[in-house]
Amino acid sequence: MPLAKNEYLSDSWKDGIFANKVVFCTGGAGTICSAQVRALVHLGANACIIGRNVEKTERVAQDIATARPGAKVIGIGSVDVRKLEALQQAVERCVKELGGIDFVIAGAAGNFLASIEQLSANAFKSVMDIDVIGSYNTLKATLPYLKESGKKHQMDNKSLQPSPIGTGGRIIFVSATIHYRGMPFQTHVSVAKAGIDALSHSVALEYGPRGMTSNIIAPGPIAQTEGFERLLPSDALEAYIKSQPLGRVGHVRDIADATVYLFSDTGSYVTGQTLVGEFI
Ligand code: HXC
Repeated sequence: MPLAKNEYLSDSWKDGIFANKVVFCTGGAGTICSAQVRALVHLGANACIIGRNVEKTERVAQDIATARPGAKVIGIGSVDVRKLEALQQAVERCVKELGGIDFVIAGAAGNFLASIEQLSANAFKSVMDIDVIGSYNTLKATLPYLKESGKKHQMDNKSLQPSPIGTGGRIIFVSATIHYRGMPFQTHVSVAKAGIDALSHSVALEYGPRGMTSNIIAPGPIAQTEGFERLLPSDALEAYIKSQPLGRVGHVRDIADATVYLFSDTGSYVTGQTLVGEFI
């Protein structure tokens, strides 16, 4: 059942701001990333979402397409972000069918609770590979198209005019906050998310001069997600809510709105930043 519009996007954004734009998203069948993509599609974009489960990825792509009449949303399942070649093939299909790539969301992640003693070397490596190598592969596979899109929106330093007005060449890495202080039973994920943050900062510096932006969204617990159900024990919820200035947990709509901001014209001068989704 697709979410009603007011459940995945606030009413502040203008229809059509992402017309003719294309978003490529890994982990796109998950609750958070699918809401991010749905918001962009609602506002005019077409999309390609990548997942590991064919049936789920195609079903979610069809659901997202209902956000706007005429939207084109491709779901490519059975792509493991640990394999660069598989991602490159998905990118080629996206470009062939949708015409390019303007925005990328690197959202694929692996997670489970395990103590350091329970964690085998292969378990640690699996999460590093999915999160860090997977984010790097996503960047690597999409970079030629991001550069092309970013080039169109570089500032003209002679006239000091943004030329032309528009948006493209933007990447968001979905990270977390657990590595800021460390987190028991999440050593593998903490280390991986720290790597993702370093990746984003470096992309911002290296590709800023080419008109690209790179930013991080770092959600805390987001209601009605798999991570929320599995990773935040229900007896810890009340104390967590009390610890937060807004007295609530995050919602997928908060993440979708942040995504729209970072990809919109409004976010043109924002790069190398992290939008942190909880009070630490
Ligand atoms: C200990 C585990 C384990 C567990 C897997 N392993 N699950 N070890 N506790 N619960 C070990 C396996 O025994 C194996 O090691 C190694 O990890 C690889 O497991 P596989 O299943 O063979 O590999 P793979 O198919 O690569 O899957 C890895 C996975 C994946 C990370 C477990 O299935 C996965 O990503 N699942 C969940 C997806 C998910 O939760 N997504 C939402 C993320 S939420 P050995 O030594 O036996 O070979 C999120 C929020 C972050 O990211 C914010 C945090 C607060």
